[in-house]
Amino acid sequence: SEEDLERHFEHTIDKDQRIEPRDWVPEGYRKTMIRQIAQHAHSEIIGMQPEGNWITRAPSLRRKAILLAKVQDEAGHGLYLYSAAETLGADRTDLTEKLISGRQKYSSIFNYPTLTFADVGAIGWLVDGAAICNQVPLCRSSYGPYARAMIRICKEESFHQRQGYELLMTMMKGTQAQRDMVQDAVNRFWWPSLMMFGPPDAESANTAQSMAWKIKRHTNDELRQRFVDMTVPQAEALGVTLPDPELKWNPERGHYDFGPVDWDEMKQVVAGNGPCNAERMARRRQAHEDGAWVREAAAAHARKMAEAKA
Ligand code: ACO
Repeated sequence: SEEDLERHFEHTIDKDQRIEPRDWVPEGYRKTMIRQIAQHAHSEIIGMQPEGNWITRAPSLRRKAILLAKVQDEAGHGLYLYSAAETLGADRTDLTEKLISGRQKYSSIFNYPTLTFADVGAIGWLVDGAAICNQVPLCRSSYGPYARAMIRICKEESFHQRQGYELLMTMMKGTQAQRDMVQDAVNRFWWPSLMMFGPPDAESANTAQSMAWKIKRHTNDELRQRFVDMTVPQAEALGVTLPDPELKWNPERGHYDFGPVDWDEMKQVVAGNGPCNAERMARRRQAHEDGAWVREAAAAHARKMAEAKA
């Protein structure tokens, strides 16, 4: 009966076991899981653009090889995540339609421009650093296919983070102009990276339920704080300043205090009014249209193979 199924679901969550595609789940769980996985997948796919922008202009063969690999990894992450969403009954074509018609979100961070090659380093260090901070706990998320996808994704994200930090370290050992370029990139990416963790807990519509279902393991503010604490010593080692005059170690809390995030800016970016939203969406739509013949050819081939078999 429905009651038994519900009890089984609650029991699985309580015992910290994984929910698998064969299991009954409440409609709300399915909906919120599809929402989060789809938004995550869309972020990976849209996230290819800001850095993809620099592949043809990478300063050396080595940097180009690294950047190509990294952007391809992001495509891979998007694909595993769409597959995870499909195990919940979502349809990939439908998810893509929802992205390109603006009915589903993707991370605010990818709506900022990449103005110099130092931005590739800043994205690796800060954006991928924030992504790891957010995603490592998701390896213990209650939905099995999502949690397992996170394991591989986090390994690849660690490589992305390191290549970014190493890139910035190399530039910091270069000329004054290069050091200035790094500082400028850090100035532009710091605050948007803090926004990646989502709205403050008090305004986060989904956190309480997602924590109860063990989809999320920490709140948005907890992870934001963890990221700040982890990043400040790295900034010192790198020799850059983080653009926050209120950033200061608080011995009582055992954490760094930091200044207020501009939540109005985040709302604007999420609402579609960030510096690059229109460009990112137009590019994604164009890629989808350009790929129509591939999808048609694949479907025609599958049909022929099925006919031949019959
Ligand atoms: N950019 C765009 N939208 C956001 C962002 C952001 N940075 N942060 C929160 N939102 C959206 C949420 O999706 C939610 O939208 P909806 O309810 O209309 O669908 C709304 O703002 C309110 O936020 P929350 O209630 O806090 O949402 P949630 O509990 O889902 O927490 C979070 C947001 C932390 C991003 C969570 O979904 C998560 O951990 N997702 C997985 C990680 C991820 O998606 N990363 C993508 C960027 S990292 C990368 O790709 C390299």
